[in-house]
Amino acid sequence: MKATFLLLACVVLLGLSSGGQADELKKHFYKKLCPQAEDMVQDLVWASVKNNSALPAKLLRLFFHDCFVRGCDASVLLDSTANISAEKDAIPNRSLAGFEVIDQVKAALEKACPGRVSCADIVALAARDSVSFQFQKPLWEVKTGRRDGNVSLASEALADIPSPGANFTRLVQQFASKNLDVEDLVVLSGAHTIGVGHNPSLNATHAA
Ligand code: HEM
Repeated sequence: MKATFLLLACVVLLGLSSGGQADELKKHFYKKLCPQAEDMVQDLVWASVKNNSALPAKLLRLFFHDCFVRGCDASVLLDSTANISAEKDAIPNRSLAGFEVIDQVKAALEKACPGRVSCADIVALAARDSVSFQFQKPLWEVKTGRRDGNVSLASEALADIPSPGANFTRLVQQFASKNLDVEDLVVLSGAHTIGVGHNPSLNATHAA
């Protein structure tokens, strides 16, 4: 049941427009550019998840928060500068985690194939591979070819990422602004069948 929910959720998320995408995404975009890329992502992510079972939820949420602001362009990974507060530092993103796994995979891929594999594709593949670890096979197909963005604004993340206090009408509006319908909202919300949620107002934690 959990796997079905997550699979559907992620297929919908993968359909979100990718702000930094070259042309159409395609299967095995890196076949010639860096043939080992997808295997390396899977190996490194699986090794991390083996030691930390909380990671799949972190990496799945990271992917969602990336895609909802400027498309799936890895803008959520960028750090703030002296003058610009980046997405990462917006309130809804302060509880994101798993960045170190993406950094580790990116560093390994830069050694193997410098300048070839986008962080945006690594985030998308890492979400799939981390959730798939317990099944020891990829649960859904991830097409690749995303380009990394270079704009990251906390103000946009604050406006675009749905708030835990949003009512249904607001959630429907926010999803509609990303070309997602009510069914997508329901299916994607199924992602909460894994992970942890903190409720600061109750000072409590709910784990699934
Ligand atoms: C529909 C609007 C959504 C709202 C309002 C929402 C809100 C939240 C909140 C408040 C948390 C708890 C964060 C914390 O306490 O640290 C959370 C966790 C989570 N969310 Fe969402 N979310 C939404 C949609 C999604 C979507 C579309 C996905 C992925 C497809 C997703 C994946 C997750 C996951 C996996 C966690 C657990 C993270 C962890 O264990 O660290 N959420 N969400």
